[in-house]
Amino acid sequence: MRIARGIHDEIGQVLTVIHMEMAWLAKKLPKDQKDLKARVDAAASLAVGAIQSVRRIIAALRPALLCDLGLAEAVKWQAGEYQKRTGIKCPVHVDPDDMDLDDAISTAVFRIFQEASTNVIRHAKATEMSVTLKKMDGCIELVVMDNGIGVAGQEIRKDAFGITGMKERAQGLGGKFEISGIPGKGTWVVVRIPVHN
Ligand SMILES: Nc1ncnc2c1ncn2[C@@H]1O[C@H](COP(=O)(O)OP(=O)(O)OP(=O)(O)O)[C@@H](O)[C@H]1O
Ligand SMILES: [Mg+2]
Repeated sequence: MRIARGIHDEIGQVLTVIHMEMAWLAKKLPKDQKDLKARVDAAASLAVGAIQSVRRIIAALRPALLCDLGLAEAVKWQAGEYQKRTGIKCPVHVDPDDMDLDDAISTAVFRIFQEASTNVIRHAKATEMSVTLKKMDGCIELVVMDNGIGVAGQEIRKDAFGITGMKERAQGLGGKFEISGIPGKGTWVVVRIPVHN
């Protein structure tokens, strides 16, 4: 977790800045400086490649993070990151604090949480996204609720990979997934997956 964050914040951000500087340089070079421009472009694409490697490495580290911290802490950490990055308030309520869960279930719930929050950040125009994670009655329940524009029915029905993916993950573990919205009020995603004690 700390490693993933370090790589993201320190290396990822520096690479992004290097890439921007290269793009700036490429634009400022006089048109007749073809050799120089080719070199700058080559360096810029190396930076892009390195940015992609950083993403892959972070993605590979994530499951480890989940194992170390457990689902509840990983969700809290991720919500904190979203809040810092986007300014959208992301309160998290967890009950109980210590949920002993299967790896497959933790991973599925965490991925669904990431996809649902990414949707809030990208589409909702929300100022707040509240997250609830509860373990009760033999199931684990995740609710992600935002106060944004509200998802519309046709957006849920169309070939929506993100939404389909969340549904398939939940169903793959015998669970249920629902997304609904009210125009102008917000959207909520509810996931319930059975757990065996
Ligand atoms: N929280 C939300 N608020 C408003 N609209 C939403 C929200 N979540 C989803 N949507 C709408 O539902 C559509 C489908 O979402 P889905 O995650 O399936 O696809 P996507 O985010 O557009 O693309 P991707 O495949 O990268 O996830 C979105 O394009 C958006 O219009
Ligand atoms: Mg999406």
